Amino acid sequence: MPEYSYSPTGERFQLPEPEDYSKEFERLKNLVNHQRTLGREIVLVMGVGFVGAVMAAVVADAQDGKGNPTKFVIGMQRPSTRSFWKIPLINRGLTPMSTEDPEVGLMIDRCVNKKETLTATFSYDALKLAEVVVVDVQCDYLKESLGNVRTGQAEMKALEESFEIIASHISPDTLVLIETTVAPGTTEQIGYPIIKKIFKKRGIEREPILAHSFERVMPGKNYVASIRDFWRVCSGVNEESTRRVVKFLNDVLNTEKFPLTVLDRPIESETAKIVENSFRATILAFLDEWSLFAEQNGVDLVKVINAIKVRPTHSNMIFPGPGIGGYCLPKDGGLGLWAYRHIHGFEDDIFKMTPLAIDINDTRSLHVAQLTRDALRNMGRPIASAEILLLGASYREDVGDTRYSGSELIVRRLTEMGAELRIHDPYVLHWWEFENQDEYPTSSHSLKRFFRGQEKLKDLRVEQDLKRGLHGIDAVIFAVRHQPYLNLDPDQVVKNAGGPIAVIDCFGILDDTKIKRYFELGCEVKGLGRGHVKRIKDQVRAKREQLLLGISGKEEKQDLYLSKKDLELLNNGCNFGAED
Ligand SMILES: NC(=O)c1ccc[n+]([C@@H]2O[C@H](COP(=O)([O-])OP(=O)(O)OC[C@H]3O[C@@H](n4cnc5c(N)ncnc54)[C@H](O)[C@@H]3O)[C@@H](O)[C@H]2O)c1
Repeated sequence: MPEYSYSPTGERFQLPEPEDYSKEFERLKNLVNHQRTLGREIVLVMGVGFVGAVMAAVVADAQDGKGNPTKFVIGMQRPSTRSFWKIPLINRGLTPMSTEDPEVGLMIDRCVNKKETLTATFSYDALKLAEVVVVDVQCDYLKESLGNVRTGQAEMKALEESFEIIASHISPDTLVLIETTVAPGTTEQIGYPIIKKIFKKRGIEREPILAHSFERVMPGKNYVASIRDFWRVCSGVNEESTRRVVKFLNDVLNTEKFPLTVLDRPIESETAKIVENSFRATILAFLDEWSLFAEQNGVDLVKVINAIKVRPTHSNMIFPGPGIGGYCLPKDGGLGLWAYRHIHGFEDDIFKMTPLAIDINDTRSLHVAQLTRDALRNMGRPIASAEILLLGASYREDVGDTRYSGSELIVRRLTEMGAELRIHDPYVLHWWEFENQDEYPTSSHSLKRFFRGQEKLKDLRVEQDLKRGLHGIDAVIFAVRHQPYLNLDPDQVVKNAGGPIAVIDCFGILDDTKIKRYFELGCEVKGLGRGHVKRIKDQVRAKREQLLLGISGKEEKQDLYLSKKDLELLNNGCNFGAED
C-alpha cells in the first residue's frame, strides 16, 4: 500500500517507492554536473524545517561580486509521512512553513524557478555529491514532567542517525557543518567519533572535516535577515575544519557587516548558544516573582520595567508575558544539564539557575487561569462552563509559531477547570498542538498528558473573525501582543461581547485609559504583574458612587469621564461583587 504525507493545507503526496530512488539520484547527478560546469559549489542542507529551508535558500541566493550565483543547494529531507510534503513544495518554489517575512517566499521562488540554484530531495545518495553538508535537523529535549526540566532527556536519535547517514555517504573532503542547537560536546564527542568510525569502515584514513556554528534565527518579519545579516559564531574540530567553515560562512552570509566570531573548539560554540538562550530565559524568569509581588501590592510592573529600562545598563529588561515559549528557550538549558551528565559524565549538581528559570517559565502561564477564575468570581460568574476567548495562540507577537506557547497551557488549564475556550489569532490557521494533540510536539509528549479532560480540545479551531469570537463571551484573555490587539477599543469589545466581561491582560497590552474604560463599562480587569488595576477600579467606583448619590456639582460633572450612556451601562452592568 502506498503511504502519503499531507501538507498543512491538506494536499496529499505519495511517499517514494523503492524504484523512485535511482531515478531521483540520476536527476540530481545531471543537475550537479551542469552546476559544476558553472563553477558552483554543491551544498546539501539536511533537514528543511523552520531553519533549514531558509538557510538553504540563503545559500542558494549567494553570489559573487559580479552577481553570479556561487552555490547550488540540495535541500534534503527524510521521506517521513510527517515531513515528506516539504520536498515537492520547495520544488515548486513554495515555502514549506508559514512565515511573516515575505522575503522567504520570494527567495525560495527566485532560487528554484529563476536562478535554478535550489532543489529538494529525499535521496540520501545526494550526500555523495556535496562539497559542504549543513546539518539543520532537530535535537529535541523531551521533558517528562511539567515544571521540572531535570526529568527530561535530549532526544539524540535524529541527530545521531544523521551523522551515520552523512558519514556513510559523503566524500572525505566534504565539510560537515552542524547548525543544530546541540548539547555542548556533541560535535566532538558524538559527531566526530561516529563519522570517524564509519570512515574507518569505508577505508578512509582522513580526518573528518567537521564544524559547528549555531543559528540565531528569529521567526517573524525579519526571518531571512536573522540568518543572513546577523553575527555568527563558529568553530572546527581541527585547523582545516575551521578554515573551511570560515570560508563557507564568509561566502554565504553578510559577514562584512556582521563579522564572524571564531572560537577555539566546537564545545565553545555549542556552549555559546546554550548560555545565550539560558541568559535570556533567566532574565525573563527572574521577573516572575516580581510580577506576583506587583499584583499583590498595587504595583504596575510594566511601568516599573519602563522606568528601569531608561538606564542604558538595563535596557534589555523585558516584561515576561504568559510564559516564554518558542522552540529554543524552553529546551536549550536542558541540553546543557543533560550534556554535563550524559556526555561529560559528571555526577554533581552544579546547575541551579538554569533549570529553575526554565521551570518558572514553563509554568508561569498557569497563573493566568487563576486570574481568569478570580475575575469571573468577582463578577459573580463561575469559571465552569464560562465562555472564554483567548487572543493569541503563538509564543510571541506578530508570528504564527505556536511551539510551546504559554497560551497552550492557559487553554489546557482552563479547560480542565471546566471553561469553554475559543481562540483567535490572525497569524495562526491551525493550532496543531490541539488539532493533532496525539502527535505534537512528538507522539506521547503532548502537554495534554498533564491535564484532565483534554480530549475535546482536538476539535479546537482558530477563529479568524474577531467579532464572531467575542460574541457572547464571559471573559477575554489578551495573551499575545499581536498588532491587531493593541488598539482594540473597549467599547467595541464590550458591545461585541454583548455586555460586561472579565478582561485579563497577560502582556501589558492595556494602558490605564483602556483599563479604566473597561471598569466604567462594568467589566472586571486583571493582569499579570498589574497590581495597580485595583486602584483604577477604586477610582471608577468612587466616581460612580458620587454620581449615584448626586453629590457632584455641575462643574465636576463636566470633568467626569462618564457620559450619560456610560452611566446607564454602569447602573445596569457594573458589578463590584465579592472581591479577592
Ligand atoms: N526554529 C527556531 O526558531 C530556531 C532558532 C534557532 C535555532 N534553532 C535550531 O535549529 C535546529 C533546527 O530547528 P527547526 O526549527 O528547523 O526544526 P524542524 O523540526 O522544523 O526541522 C528539522 C527538519 O529535519 C528533518 N530531519 C530529521 N532527521 C532527518 C534526517 N535524518 N535526514 C533529513 N532530514 C531530517 C525533519 O524532518 C525536519 O523537517 C534546532 O536545533 C533548533 O534548536 C531553531
